[in-house]
Amino acid sequence: MANPRKIIIDTDPGQDDAAAIMLALGSPLELDLLGVTTVAGNVPLSRTQTNARIVCEFAGRPDVKVFAGCERPLKRPPVTAEYVHGPTGLDGPELFEPTMPLQDMNGVDFIIDTLRTHEAGTVTLCTLGPMTNVATAFQHAPDIIARVKEVVMMGGAYFEVGNITPAAEFNIYVDPEAADIVFKSGVPIVMMPLDLTHKVLTLKARVEKIRALGSRAGVALADMLDFFERFDVEKYGSDGGPLHDPTVIAYLIKPEIFSGRHCNVEIELASELTLGMTVVDWWRVTKREKNAMVMKDIDAQAFFDLLTERVGRL
Ligand code: RIB
Ligand code: CA
Repeated sequence: MANPRKIIIDTDPGQDDAAAIMLALGSPLELDLLGVTTVAGNVPLSRTQTNARIVCEFAGRPDVKVFAGCERPLKRPPVTAEYVHGPTGLDGPELFEPTMPLQDMNGVDFIIDTLRTHEAGTVTLCTLGPMTNVATAFQHAPDIIARVKEVVMMGGAYFEVGNITPAAEFNIYVDPEAADIVFKSGVPIVMMPLDLTHKVLTLKARVEKIRALGSRAGVALADMLDFFERFDVEKYGSDGGPLHDPTVIAYLIKPEIFSGRHCNVEIELASELTLGMTVVDWWRVTKREKNAMVMKDIDAQAFFDLLTERVGRL
């Protein structure tokens, strides 16, 4: 195995974020998790930074460096999603006060310092929430943009349209200006939109296989997914809900189960009606520069087999 790929996970846990963090921690041969930076998103920062540490302790990894980043979007008031994730943002399992420390350094400074100290082109940024931390880092330290290997992000939608407004997906809608900064930065981007994540549903049989692991991490994750899916099951009438965020991590481990197209993606910032929409030139009807690999299809069973097997290692 070549050297594990160095990553920073930027996240707003969130039960699906928890699955992504556990998948990464269960894959040390492929991934070297340098740190977890948290951001306001599904719930306020005070909860997302706590939840990230709870997830690491469920995974038996109190050594992970967890940082708090931005507590509000660049320009707009915070928008949260307790209606999906519960008041804690991690409803489902019995929770606890984490004992592992929150790092003193701000998450934005950790992103900047890490990119400046590691060899250029070796650190991947995995964003699972609003892109406020990464955009702020790019604004404060433009020199780091060229040093990023890749930004692999969950967010946006095109054929699947929006999940928080008819036009916009939550992570982009919460901080569209941040997404605009990142998508215009020139950094290589791999995008996991709702078009892809709505194809990885937490079917009962899949969640029960995770629960059958019997481990602290497996049972806690199954409890999280049982809670997390109920909103989408009700809304879409589907068997299970879309498991958005771990698709970012699965891509780094098994890119071959994904397919998509290199496209131009731009973010709507002006219209109240379509604010936060990711306008994907999928059919290349413009000459706009292609700035993102937009993923659209995935082998869903291979994804869940990978997730279950890796969480089983915790
Ligand atoms: O729209 C889905 C995204 O919003 C996921 O990252 C979920 O955790 C929430 O942050
Ligand atoms: Ca998230």
